[in-house]
Amino acid sequence: MRMTINIAPSILSADFTKLGEEVAKISKCDHVDYLHLDVMDGNFVPNITIGPDIIKSLRPKSELIFDTHLMINQPENHIEAFANSGSDIITIHYEATTHIDSVLTKIKSFGKKAGISIIPSTNEDVLDYILDKIDLILIMTVNPGFGGQEFLTSQIEKIKKIRKKIDQSGKDILLEIDGGINDQTAKIAIAAGADILVSGSYIFGHNNYQERVNNLIG
Ligand code: DX5
Ligand code: ZN
Repeated sequence: MRMTINIAPSILSADFTKLGEEVAKISKCDHVDYLHLDVMDGNFVPNITIGPDIIKSLRPKSELIFDTHLMINQPENHIEAFANSGSDIITIHYEATTHIDSVLTKIKSFGKKAGISIIPSTNEDVLDYILDKIDLILIMTVNPGFGGQEFLTSQIEKIKKIRKKIDQSGKDILLEIDGGINDQTAKIAIAAGADILVSGSYIFGHNNYQERVNNLIG
């Protein structure tokens, strides 16, 4: 059963000089149940962003579900820190470590929801044997590392295939799409089967956040 579409604003494009205010402001918007937190290590991806201490400092500013997207190599070394930071969902990359199944188990052991993300060149079939361990699948529709990139239309087929896999499994797994989401690509992602749309530059590049969120919902 498909749930209603929800938006996960990515603070990557927020004004970092007033991050607390930005988070408080976006947290008041309708159709926004998640806050997307992009963690980058300058190794798995070329960019470096925030770590667990920043996430912890934002926790009191918002009641949204903290949706932490780890774009870091060997995430197993940092699961405890991100669990303690107040993250509710911890998503790791399939490409970032070898023993995916055991890292997912580790995330669960802290009482957190476990997510798996795949980059644009990774085939969706790698998800087949971990479906029983995951609460969320995050499909990257750009190459991870930076906000403001263009949505890769090559991923539309993949989103549809994963939607089918989730529905056939009968499991309660959310399908989240991340990268290049705007009022046009949102429609494409929703039609392909998305439950949650991550959006950074489209929302934070403008003053009226609620209006931008509404444009994404359609
Ligand atoms: C990119 C990040 C995204 C990013 C999306 O590597 O994972 O979450 O913030 O930004 P936009 O919406 O600008 O593509
Ligand atoms: Zn992200």
